Amino acid sequence: MAEPELMTTVEATARAVDAFLDARLAEGRRPPRLVAALRHALFAGGKRMRPFLVIEAARLFGIEGAAPLHVAAALEAVHCYSLIHDDLPAMDNDDMRRGKPTVHRAFDEATAILAGDSLLTLAFAILARKDAGIPAGRRMRIVGALAEAAGIDGMIGGQMLDLAAEGRFDARPPRQSIATIRRLQSLKTGALIVFALKSAVHLAPRATAAEKKALATYGRELGLAFQIRDDLLDAEGHSATVGKAVGKDAAAGKATFLAHLGIDGARRELDRATAAGEAALRSAFGARANVLSALLHYNRTRDR
Ligand code: IPE
Ligand code: IPE
Ligand code: MG
Ligand code: MG
Ligand code: MG
Repeated sequence: MAEPELMTTVEATARAVDAFLDARLAEGRRPPRLVAALRHALFAGGKRMRPFLVIEAARLFGIEGAAPLHVAAALEAVHCYSLIHDDLPAMDNDDMRRGKPTVHRAFDEATAILAGDSLLTLAFAILARKDAGIPAGRRMRIVGALAEAAGIDGMIGGQMLDLAAEGRFDARPPRQSIATIRRLQSLKTGALIVFALKSAVHLAPRATAAEKKALATYGRELGLAFQIRDDLLDAEGHSATVGKAVGKDAAAGKATFLAHLGIDGARRELDRATAAGEAALRSAFGARANVLSALLHYNRTRDR
């Protein structure tokens, strides 16, 4: 699948997820400032890659409609929460996100913390909705998998290791081995991406062991490739295109492949992960994997 076609498909998914989240925000009587902050965070021009992964992976098994849409929206809510908190002064201290002021800049820090908390809890409320149409057993597995991917054994654990590697908590941070960096990145970024693929398997009762394994490998390699591309954009990208500040990782002493292997080494690892993800997909899905494969290749050179 060529890139323009991929972008059209991604945009169609994004519209469906945005409409769904928009409707969730319109429900109930809520503090207007909080809702405004949530809208600022959610509808700011994110790439919507994670919901796309859920919906396209489910489609591989012929599953479409409400169930994958609910999972996709829940995952995007968790992702947007992770960005709000990642940008806070106590974390990465960033002023720009998706080309706009970060939530604590546009509003204030307390509102940003509460907006993040709101999105994390909203994700699970979305999964609990009856109209998700997910049978109870499968729904429980998805809830458990999302909690695990977002929490101490996933994204949060990775964020903690990310800050620790900067030397926040020690006078002299230990030098990071490549294995530590790999682990840190697989947690902070990989876990939610792997969840996107795993959730499709939970929705698909007929997925074979080979298909499950292929999607897990694809998710792992895409997660790694995605964070390496993010790190390369921090080093070489332009803030106006990337939509966030650049040049911050080296200054903060972040533990990245780039810091460890240099630009060329990081690019080689990006290429290796792209090829490994592609091979896993093709072995199990052949031509059916065209869309997910296109995403992997798009990531390799994306500029935002
Ligand atoms: C940024 O994620 C944070 C990382 C895990 C690298 P994205 O690059 O997917 O951010 P949006 O959603 O498109 O803004
Ligand atoms: C973010 O990693 C990972 C998250 C869990 C949010 P980064 O800190 O590199 O993400 P950006 O560059 O701020 O988007
Ligand atoms: Mg960070
Ligand atoms: Mg950050
Ligand atoms: Mg980054």
